[in-house]
Amino acid sequence: MKHIVVLTGAGMSAESGIATFRDSGGLWEQHAIEDVATPEGFQRNPQLVLDFYNERRKAAFGAKPNKGHIGLAEMESDYKISIITQNVDNLHERAGSTNVIHLHGELNKVRSTADPSLIYTLTSDKPEINIGDKCEKGSQLRPHIVWFGEAVPMIEKAAEITQQADILVVIGTSLNVYPAAGLINYTKQNTPIYLIDPKEVKTNIKSIHFIQKGASEGVEELREILKLKYS
Ligand code: OAD
Repeated sequence: MKHIVVLTGAGMSAESGIATFRDSGGLWEQHAIEDVATPEGFQRNPQLVLDFYNERRKAAFGAKPNKGHIGLAEMESDYKISIITQNVDNLHERAGSTNVIHLHGELNKVRSTADPSLIYTLTSDKPEINIGDKCEKGSQLRPHIVWFGEAVPMIEKAAEITQQADILVVIGTSLNVYPAAGLINYTKQNTPIYLIDPKEVKTNIKSIHFIQKGASEGVEELREILKLKYS
């Protein structure tokens, strides 16, 4: 069985109604990164940060996996699939993918500000945390999100998996944020790389197979290409 590693970004969930970051109208046009996605921002105005993630968490709970997520989950019957996602929603899991690594954390989880091993899962009936919501040791809870300036604990595992790929697929990421964007350089030499995005994405890789489509149609086309090549 071929091992396909899939690196996904916000564009993967765009057709599920979740806003991307850097497209026009994207989240970083409406919010300053340093205010809502850094440890310093949280120190300055914790409720603003909690509100930002509360809103996003509610949107994610209300969203459904799109055909792209579902197509990737279905591919598990023909390939070994490892998904490495920068997304903090759980739409890959809800579509049925069984092997998902979250590089930038998970929206439906929160953790203690004093003890990062104390992680709690929120549900759609209580999707918010606010100032005063505390862990069992009495410290304020924060989103289980990797903010800018924080370490990316899953990056080494993700790099190891990328090294093992027979095929790399990149979907819906502008490849602007490191270290995630650097993963594409971890593939073995001559590993085919497919990139699905409606817009051109700049990379340092010369021989990329570019599928210029949205995630749903792009995954469908990818499956046809792979079927012709490998079955
Ligand atoms: P970006 O918003 O930077 O890029 C989204 C990409 O998705 C762009 O290349 C779009 O062209 C593409 N796109 C838009 N609609 C699409 C569709 N229907 N199907 C497929 N692709 C589509 O998002 P990311 O690259 O994921 O991190 O951003 C990386 C990180 O920056 C995020 O994880 C987040 C953000 O700041 C943190 O918050 C730590």
